[in-house]
Amino acid sequence: MFGKKEVSSTSNANLDPTRIPNHIAIIMDGNGRWAQKRHLPRIAGHKQGMQTVKTVTIAASELGVKVLSLYAFSTENWKRPSSEVNYLMQLPIKFFSTFVPDLVKHNVRVMVMGDITKLPAGTQKAVNDAIKDTADCDGMILNFALNYGSRDEIIRATKHIAERVAAGEISSKQIDEQLLSQNMMSAKLGDLANPDLLIRTSGEERISNFMLWQIAYSELEFTDVYWPDFDRTSLEDAIIEFQGRHRRYGGLKNN
Ligand code: IPE
Ligand code: IPE
Ligand code: MG
Repeated sequence: MFGKKEVSSTSNANLDPTRIPNHIAIIMDGNGRWAQKRHLPRIAGHKQGMQTVKTVTIAASELGVKVLSLYAFSTENWKRPSSEVNYLMQLPIKFFSTFVPDLVKHNVRVMVMGDITKLPAGTQKAVNDAIKDTADCDGMILNFALNYGSRDEIIRATKHIAERVAAGEISSKQIDEQLLSQNMMSAKLGDLANPDLLIRTSGEERISNFMLWQIAYSELEFTDVYWPDFDRTSLEDAIIEFQGRHRRYGGLKNN
């Protein structure tokens, strides 16, 4: 499923093209504040944020990232005014109707985490069509978190495992890290399920229910840039910072 690493393309001399994080996850935040700063309605920020998704997807794919996970709508975002929720629900339709040919051209495959059955029918169709239309692409995976919440994901995994134990299919002794991982919504990403780098834009420094299980050993980066202003250079800067980190996974630096 995951082919050999393509040669990365970058003009940034500080970026080491041989040490690109395999999986980058982004909490795309700050659309509303970006718009408010310009005296525009919040939805103008979401519209511009969609353009950023296109720019960053192509940049990540060209840099050789293997999985790009984007937090697009959380299980808590339903609390927003219905006019904003409705607009956000239309965005995947707009996004995929114009962008699928580019995704195919860049060999990018679309996947989704989250309960999309709760989305309006037209949104579900747009998402499912994009998944189907890019199913043969074997370059970068563009993994959208849509109506995704990590606690919801963990609850679902726990229920499923408990049902299997109750049915006698497995013993509680078999519950381990691997079994939990296999029951997470990220399981389809296989060995690449855990982000190497998690970026949050907009200056907020919290996780807001995103990939809690998977980010146990991710490098975390917070930038003040609002998502609509994030671009290829911001992504490269984030990767350069990542390349300066020392990941130890609980061990020692040199082991
Ligand atoms: C992120 O931007 C997009 C979604 C959560 C859907 P926000 O809409 O949260 O923007 P701010 O945080 O209010 O500025
Ligand atoms: C997190 O942003 C969710 C997404 C980016 C989709 P929020 O704006 O919803 O998070 P909080 O409410 O500031 O924690
Ligand atoms: Mg926000």
